[in-house]
Amino acid sequence: MASFFTSDTPLDPRLYGLDDAALEFFKQQTGITEENELKHHILAVQAKAFAVAPYYCIYTFVFTRLRISKHPKYQSALQLGRDCKSALLLDLGCCFGNDARKAVADGWPATQVISTDIKQELWDLGHVLFRSTPASFPSHFIAGDCLDPTFLSSEPGPSSQSLPDLSSLTSLNDLRGKLTAVHAASIFHLFSQEEQASLVRAVAALLSSEPGSIAFGSHVGLPKQGIIQGKAGAMRVKMYCYDPESWNKLWEDAGPFKAEASLKELVGLNGEIGWEMIWSATVITKSGV
Ligand SMILES: C[S@@+](CC[C@H](N)C(=O)[O-])C[C@H]1O[C@@H](n2cnc3c(N)ncnc32)[C@H](O)[C@@H]1O
Repeated sequence: MASFFTSDTPLDPRLYGLDDAALEFFKQQTGITEENELKHHILAVQAKAFAVAPYYCIYTFVFTRLRISKHPKYQSALQLGRDCKSALLLDLGCCFGNDARKAVADGWPATQVISTDIKQELWDLGHVLFRSTPASFPSHFIAGDCLDPTFLSSEPGPSSQSLPDLSSLTSLNDLRGKLTAVHAASIFHLFSQEEQASLVRAVAALLSSEPGSIAFGSHVGLPKQGIIQGKAGAMRVKMYCYDPESWNKLWEDAGPFKAEASLKELVGLNGEIGWEMIWSATVITKSGV
């Protein structure tokens, strides 16, 4: 259940456009300061990535929008990274690693950021996009299927306090109970109702039980939960969408969380109205503080 372009859908360069903050970020990250050259560089990498993974977010340049930094919990998540020297941040469904790179640019130590995606190629293209190498951007990446319990299980992890060696992680299960923040944008809606519910439990199990630890992100939602099905231009869509109330309940059933979700109206490529659900789940103590 998801939304589909096919990799032979023609790309539309008219959708490209960086706002001031994104322009500054991409210039700084890539070292390309001439705007037209930067545009050609981004379009070239976009085409390579779309051939591998024809996602809407790649088609529409969502990866250039610094989305993590626009989330209402972003600043408080960054503060957690400042407050605790060993705090770990995970970006789930990271694509190029654009959001991880933004968090690192804003102060989260690169070596304490882990990104994960089912497609290694997208992470590798992230190094092409940002003109970096594993040495110049020493953040961690682990490829895997977040729906596979051998990679990410919803069972609680062992109670050990020690951190695994992040440079030799083989599965996200080694991180259970150890993460301060998990960011997840435009990934949950790719999955069925049951898979989304199970992934919520698995992400909940990754978070440290320290009050304040947080999962946050955004994806397609609905005012009343159900299936969106239809055609939007070249894209076929079939996705299960939770509404804020049912989404919050998934988190509250998964552990001691304060869950907050709201919908933002979006206009799609063909003028169709959709909703982005912006959500967070913050660990509270069992007494609710
Ligand atoms: C729509 S993109 C969103 C990318 C990025 N988070 C953003 O907001 O720009 C979804 C990402 O999830 C990844 N993905 C899809 N299914 C996955 C799975 N089962 N496990 C891990 N990653 C997956 C895709 O490869 C893709 O990079």
